[in-house]
Amino acid sequence: MKVFSGIQPTNELHIGNYLGAIKQWVDLQNQAECVFCIVDWHAITVPYDTKVLQTKIHEVAAVYLASGIDPQKSIIFVQSQVKEHAELAWLLNTITPLGDLQRMTQFKDKSAKFLQNINAGLLNYPVLMAADVLLYQTDVVPVGEDQKQHVELTREIARRFNSKFSEVFKLPKAQIPKIGARIMSLTEPTKKMSKTDKAESRIGLFDSPEQIKEKIGSATTDSGKEIRYNPKEKPGISNLLTIYSSFSNQSIKDLEKEFTDQSYQLFKQKLADLLIETLEPFRAQKAKLESNPSQLNEILTDGANHARAIAQDTIQKARSAMGLN
Ligand code: TYM
Repeated sequence: MKVFSGIQPTNELHIGNYLGAIKQWVDLQNQAECVFCIVDWHAITVPYDTKVLQTKIHEVAAVYLASGIDPQKSIIFVQSQVKEHAELAWLLNTITPLGDLQRMTQFKDKSAKFLQNINAGLLNYPVLMAADVLLYQTDVVPVGEDQKQHVELTREIARRFNSKFSEVFKLPKAQIPKIGARIMSLTEPTKKMSKTDKAESRIGLFDSPEQIKEKIGSATTDSGKEIRYNPKEKPGISNLLTIYSSFSNQSIKDLEKEFTDQSYQLFKQKLADLLIETLEPFRAQKAKLESNPSQLNEILTDGANHARAIAQDTIQKARSAMGLN
């Protein structure tokens, strides 16, 4: 089985990225051939700071390593170091209907959020994502719920290519976790937690203990008193219960029992303590890699070399299927 997934080096990674995507990757690397990418070409489709992009790329790599992704077992690399991604994206663009791209939820959301910068890259984003996945003959794409639509489009693009030219690509499937597939904003719990919203709305994987306490303490709840899972009526508490359950591996039912008749305040304190403890390795790994940047560069160069070899094989097949050389 082949697995591919990626994360954009945009702002700071948060617990939604970890619970929706990375947590599944760690389990998969013992059962499958895994490729984990840092998708910098996707990140430049929204406004960003050129001076910190390389730092952000290294931070994502630090998160991968701190989570337990082992470069001896899995390929870790930066998208822009393997040019075949751009080439395949171009080829796939020529068979992707414009209407399919215009109806993507993420395109609509980002166009509304970045009104001053609705660039063609934002529209073509899912085609580059399809290229990422298809180059590695991927079976499974472990992602959070928001990416399901993009993986379905990838599958459709692969199907179209195979029937129009010849059978070059495997048809991939999304793998969405049962709990944690859609972690909500701490300040507006009816919206998804996002890297591009204000800092108080999310817990960053490198947040200090003080920041974690502060953000969980002021997370939006509701006027009731009960710690009960009911996303419609109690979206704030339900989101905090989901986060608690995913990090502690305790079921939501058990947590409801444990916190019967307890105050929101005590529940939040316990959750903050749990997060401070579980996120400690992220802060430590970041500090370690910052003190030894050459180690990280070696891992990423080695990863890109391995990735390129696989990608070149697929792109050659795609080129000749399309009558190119
Ligand atoms: P990105 O960087 O926005 O998100 C990375 C991963 O985190 C998941 N995620 C969440 N999961 C649960 N709750 C949330 N609030 C939450 N927010 C984000 C996302 O679903 C994703 O799995 N398009 C991709 C990047 C990409 C990619 C790929 C992924 C580019 N090429 C190829 C898989 C395969 C994205 O938006 O990532």
